[in-house]
Amino acid sequence: MAKKKLVVLTGAGISAESGLKTFRDSDGLWEGYDVNEVATPRAWRKNPQLVLDFYNLRRKNVADARPNAAHIGLAELEKKFDVHIVTQNIDDLHERAGSSKVLHLHGEIFKMRSDSNEELVQEIRGDIMLGDVAADGGQFRPHIVWFEEPVPKIEQAIHVVRRAEIFVVVGTSLVVYPAAGLVNYAPAEIPKFIIDKHIPYTSSIYNLTVIEKPATEGVKALIEMLRSEF
Ligand code: APR
Repeated sequence: MAKKKLVVLTGAGISAESGLKTFRDSDGLWEGYDVNEVATPRAWRKNPQLVLDFYNLRRKNVADARPNAAHIGLAELEKKFDVHIVTQNIDDLHERAGSSKVLHLHGEIFKMRSDSNEELVQEIRGDIMLGDVAADGGQFRPHIVWFEEPVPKIEQAIHVVRRAEIFVVVGTSLVVYPAAGLVNYAPAEIPKFIIDKHIPYTSSIYNLTVIEKPATEGVKALIEMLRSEF
């Protein structure tokens, strides 16, 4: 029998228990930094060194972090379901936990690309420095989707969410579009779950089960609830 397609939209909250800061919680990243100074094309033009410093530090933090029970639980669900992760996160904790289908909507911290050609992408484990240039001579920048930039993978994500048979949201404030709009593409009748320490506001979603818990506990509860679907 074909496995049911289980689509999971994740945000910073799933990696919080791995020690990575979220953006909008108290003590979140955007409390310590001005978004406009580090995560916009304008910031990159105005002060590229500051932008590189910000993301070089993020890369170190991610390298030091480990997947937690929530990432691992979602990876283990592949035994029973055709799991597709759509993540807003730039970390690689889903991959390291063993998830095989991960779509990164907002880019990846361990990749960099030419400033003048977004197709020229390369792996980066250490720091990106000013003067590091791609084959086309363009300065390397983080392979991250900044505010005010288009989200190239959104169509692919919509395609995946439309075909979901079970839809799960974990650890996102659902305020950043177009990612937040993905919840509206899940077929109305399918079972839906939302896991978050503080459930964010959503307009009414049919057939929704709310699990107000930290991600590690919430994913464990979800797995219990899904047993009836096995
Ligand atoms: N377990 C579950 N949820 C948690 C936990 C936890 N341990 N800790 C925090 N959360 C929840 C918060 O309650 C909040 O709903 O995670 C969510 C984090 O929200 P944001 O900080 O806004 O992160 P996210 O939704 O991923 O942000 C979206 O905004 O800054 C941009 O590009 C960046 O991808 C990011 C996008």
